[in-house]
Amino acid sequence: MSRNICKENRLDRKYLYIQTFGCQMNVNDSDKIVTLLRDEGYETTDDAECADLVLVNTCSIREKAAQKAYSQLGRFRMLKERNPELILAMGGCLAQQWGQKILARAPYLNVVFGTHNIHRLPEFIRMVEKNGSRVVETEFQTSVKSLGITAVPQNGAVSAYVTIMQGCNNFCAYCVVPHLRGREESRPADDVIPEVEKLADHGIREVTLLGQNVNAYGKTIAGSPGFAQLLRAIGRVKGIERIRFTTSHPKDLTEDLMRCFAEVEALCDHIHLPVQSGSDAILRRMNRGYTRDQYLEKIEGLRHFRPEISITSDVIVGFPGETEKDYQATLALMEAVKFDNLFSFKYSEREGTAAVGFEHQVPEKVKRERLQQLQALQEEHTLKRNRMLEGRVQDVLVEGKSRNSEHDITGRTRSNKIVNFRGGRELAGKTCSVLIKKACLHSLRGEMVEGTENPCSSK
Ligand code: SAH
Ligand code: SF4
Ligand code: F3S
Repeated sequence: MSRNICKENRLDRKYLYIQTFGCQMNVNDSDKIVTLLRDEGYETTDDAECADLVLVNTCSIREKAAQKAYSQLGRFRMLKERNPELILAMGGCLAQQWGQKILARAPYLNVVFGTHNIHRLPEFIRMVEKNGSRVVETEFQTSVKSLGITAVPQNGAVSAYVTIMQGCNNFCAYCVVPHLRGREESRPADDVIPEVEKLADHGIREVTLLGQNVNAYGKTIAGSPGFAQLLRAIGRVKGIERIRFTTSHPKDLTEDLMRCFAEVEALCDHIHLPVQSGSDAILRRMNRGYTRDQYLEKIEGLRHFRPEISITSDVIVGFPGETEKDYQATLALMEAVKFDNLFSFKYSEREGTAAVGFEHQVPEKVKRERLQQLQALQEEHTLKRNRMLEGRVQDVLVEGKSRNSEHDITGRTRSNKIVNFRGGRELAGKTCSVLIKKACLHSLRGEMVEGTENPCSSK
């Protein structure tokens, strides 16, 4: 019934409802999809009931992520029952993993497209629109065309993602990504730098460079600059005030890259450097390619070049064979580093990965207990690190109005911490000097610095 109401208001427009799970790479892929489908006449809507095309961009990193996608499909099936003309599409890592199999499970899907086929989506949608055909395309390509698609940022956006590479060659024993995103491939610097310049011209002040292992940037292109050189070049782009990147693999974090934290002013005071475990035995079996001591040396190097740097990480508990001693070594590493934040996960077995055959699975109860204890310790550390900013003035790039109060605006410090403070929405996109008054676990409370004529600037 709701469809008719939607119809009345739609003025011959076509609407796309898109839902995204997973990492920032997937978020950026969704932005690319929106850009591509805009050229096909689709506008985005927040109302799935009114959409002509419903698309779910899926993730398969852990079993839980895959389950979220299943439950969305159930919801979408109901929409399709109410409106048989609705086009249902599924992309992303789970679509890549399932391929043809998903059609047997979800016969109401019109399009299933893998991670290397985003650029062909308009063609697939046209096929469905024209003759109601069903399309499944999950072939891997050797030169991935979607890597070169530029996602056009929303009006008024201050931050943008830029994909600089895709795929992964590391094959960590637990990880499904290399199986679903294919081999590592870098995007030429001649594409990346002009894209950043164009974004700066559109008012973007902060770019986040994306890839599964950005530290390996350039290795697949003869004569390409490496990641450190790329950072230096982007650091020279006028108008780009802040550069972030994710994700870094510790084994490829060179001294030259660390040095960028001393040399490239626009590079933010933050690095996400997933450690996964503090035990050498576990790191070896995970195939991570570094030891605990080597990881700690890198932390020391980073803090040497940028003492203010905020360090965040990922940890897996309950990897097969993880003993109490191994787990304690992870807690001890956390004590040694004092991460600003930590994303921690229970090990989840993924089809096709090396760890599937590993002995000594850790019982669910033990995993749960370890995770809880580890998260409680991290909360202490996060709070401690956040409190170090109390009484200090921070540069905050304003993103927009705060969710919690009409009178507040929200933004991020260079160390990627959220700050809420009094201010008007017109300050979005500006960088304000903010005195941090109170630190909480998930955000900081501040006040614009008084006595300064212009506490906010566009730099
Ligand atoms: N490319 C990034 C990680 C991408 S996946 C890197 O190498 O650091 C994000 C995080 O999910 C990983 O760092 C890991 O902590 C977690 N993860 C990946 N596979 C997992 C699995 N099978 N079970 C639990 N956590 C997993
Ligand atoms: Fe997965 Fe390891 Fe590649 Fe990261 S580096 S995507 S954890 S295989
Ligand atoms: Fe998920 Fe794929 Fe990213 S599995 S974490 S969406 S690369």
